[in-house]
Amino acid sequence: MIEIRKASLDDYTVIREIAGRTWPDTYLPILTREQIGYMLDMMYSLQAYTEQLLVKGHHFLLAADDGVFLGFASYEVNHSSETTRIHKLYVLPEAQGKGIGQKLIALIENEAAKNTNDKIVLNVNRYNKAVEFYLKSGFVKAGEEDINIGSGYLMEDFIMRKDIK
Ligand SMILES: CC(C)(COP(=O)(O)OP(=O)(O)OC[C@H]1O[C@@H](n2cnc3c(N)ncnc32)[C@H](O)[C@@H]1OP(=O)(O)O)[C@@H](O)C(=O)NCCC(=O)NCCS
Repeated sequence: MIEIRKASLDDYTVIREIAGRTWPDTYLPILTREQIGYMLDMMYSLQAYTEQLLVKGHHFLLAADDGVFLGFASYEVNHSSETTRIHKLYVLPEAQGKGIGQKLIALIENEAAKNTNDKIVLNVNRYNKAVEFYLKSGFVKAGEEDINIGSGYLMEDFIMRKDIK
């Protein structure tokens, strides 16, 4: 059975490992190996994780099946006015398509509602298959943005939004 719990500082290694095993599969069709390595180092260092948890107020969720960790998400309530932002959502390649992503989104939606936020927003690469997943999960495309992340690298994103009733 899939169980989801909050992650703490102690879970850094498992989150780093899921990201490390999911990113090449997700992004090699879209980005260079160099850009993937650069982004993983920037976003998933122990320092970045600690800062996200302790300073930036990101909450991390870990999904496991019989104690085996399969995916994680991070989100921030009240990121802007009445808005929850999903920062990260990754399910191991072999565990995708089994409803884990949808469960994580449902939990985040619950937390957003509890905090009287009325929408969830996120950025997703315009060429990522996950766009279809978000559309199926009730998100709409709300815009596009290209973000310069340094060292000559660009993130070419859709901004997606889901209104919470
Ligand atoms: C995107 C992701 C989080 C979705 O999680 P998941 O557990 O695989 O998705 P679910 O099993 O909950 O799927 C929910 C629905 O979306 C659909 N879906 C999932 N991935 C899809 C895809 N790539 N293309 C089209 N539809 C997709 C499923 O078919 C399902 O629809 P259904 O309810 O009609 O059967 C996961 O596939 C993943 O980690 N992908 C790689 C990393 C990534 O791109 N993350 C997002 C970064 S912004």
